Amino acid sequence: MIRAAELIQRKRDGEELSPDELREFVLAYVRDEVPDYQMSAFCMAVFFRGLSVAETHALTEAMVASGESIDLSPLGRRVVDKHSTGGVGDKASIVIGPIVAACGVPFAKMSGRGLGHTGGTLDKLESIPGMRIELSHDEFIRQVQEVGMAIVGQTADLVPADKRLYALRDVTATVDNVSLIASSIMSKKIAAGADAIVLDVKVGDGAFMKTLDAARELAQAMIDLGREAGRDVVCELTDMDQPLGRAVGNALEIREAVETLNGTGPPDVRELVLSAVGHLLALSDLDVGVEEGYRRAEAAVASGAALERYERWIEAQGGDPSMAALPTAPVVRDASAAEAGFVQRIATTDVGLASLRLGAGRTTKDEDIDHAVGLICRAKRGDRVAQGGTLAEVHARDEASAERAVAEVEACYTIGAESPEPRPIVLDVLR
Ligand code: URA
Repeated sequence: MIRAAELIQRKRDGEELSPDELREFVLAYVRDEVPDYQMSAFCMAVFFRGLSVAETHALTEAMVASGESIDLSPLGRRVVDKHSTGGVGDKASIVIGPIVAACGVPFAKMSGRGLGHTGGTLDKLESIPGMRIELSHDEFIRQVQEVGMAIVGQTADLVPADKRLYALRDVTATVDNVSLIASSIMSKKIAAGADAIVLDVKVGDGAFMKTLDAARELAQAMIDLGREAGRDVVCELTDMDQPLGRAVGNALEIREAVETLNGTGPPDVRELVLSAVGHLLALSDLDVGVEEGYRRAEAAVASGAALERYERWIEAQGGDPSMAALPTAPVVRDASAAEAGFVQRIATTDVGLASLRLGAGRTTKDEDIDHAVGLICRAKRGDRVAQGGTLAEVHARDEASAERAVAEVEACYTIGAESPEPRPIVLDVLR
């Protein structure tokens, strides 16, 4: 019988647990022999005491061992994958997958749902009418073979420990810990089978990692876990001190993803996506460097090949790829600037929460979301706005929620006399 209370106490007191103890604790949790309240207490002890490198490895291995792993070797190619640590307006995977596939590299990704104030790729994809995100492992592999890519939900038997822990951490204030995030992300990436992974580690107000130092620590932990499991990992540290692009909310983000694929998307989304594809192609079996990868990504967008691949992908999963099929919100209102000046700062977590409260995200685990609602940030950091000028569009289900969101979004913007220092979207790359 697992001595859960004793393990929690030892972790609380700062002791290092052995790999066997951690493994047994995680596997007992998945077998329902450790209740949620003990696992919550354990996560809180980890939050305050941290895990050593050896403990983080053991936790990750135990999470992978809690379920099945996918064998992508039947594809006979080096397969690439991409994951973000979570942000506001992050639709990058939906753009990156089709570009990578259009460049001739197999892209196989399992995605998650929104966590806290951050949106999830699966929720965004489900705003496309007919889109199936639940594919069996065989269907997943077959689609990557035939279409060159697939983005699907994590099946119940892939890292079940993370599925339960993720939901538990979301409601017990234990998300933003380096070891817990690193093991959560890397257990899923290792089990999902890709050989090489680009991780987008978000930094700033809207990210779980608020500073560059914290983001570097997380990136290094994930690179080490990947290496230990025989996977190549490159981490890009990217700016999340403002929403990525302009759209925040599910169908609105799909529109912006399609615009980016046809070359008319916002410059920060485009740059982040091209940079990630550059690294993914350099990690693939194409035998190209990052710069050549970037150039091929630009060419795939310019020729229309990336957009065409997007349409094939969505159709392969039963979805309707036309923009006209996406749901739209009945009420659209402007959030306006109280004074003239430059946008100094956008409180990004609060933007995510305003979108969530409009209905674009969940406040409880099983809540339905409204795919049509959200925000379009018309003004971004450094933009000049006139008094009464538009800061953002609110897309809402009704007048009352629109009015509340307008006030919330106006409060997210700080306007000042000076133009702030410009900041690149990609802040650093670790490998
Ligand atoms: N994304 C994940 O998959 N897990 C975390 O813990 C945080 C972000």
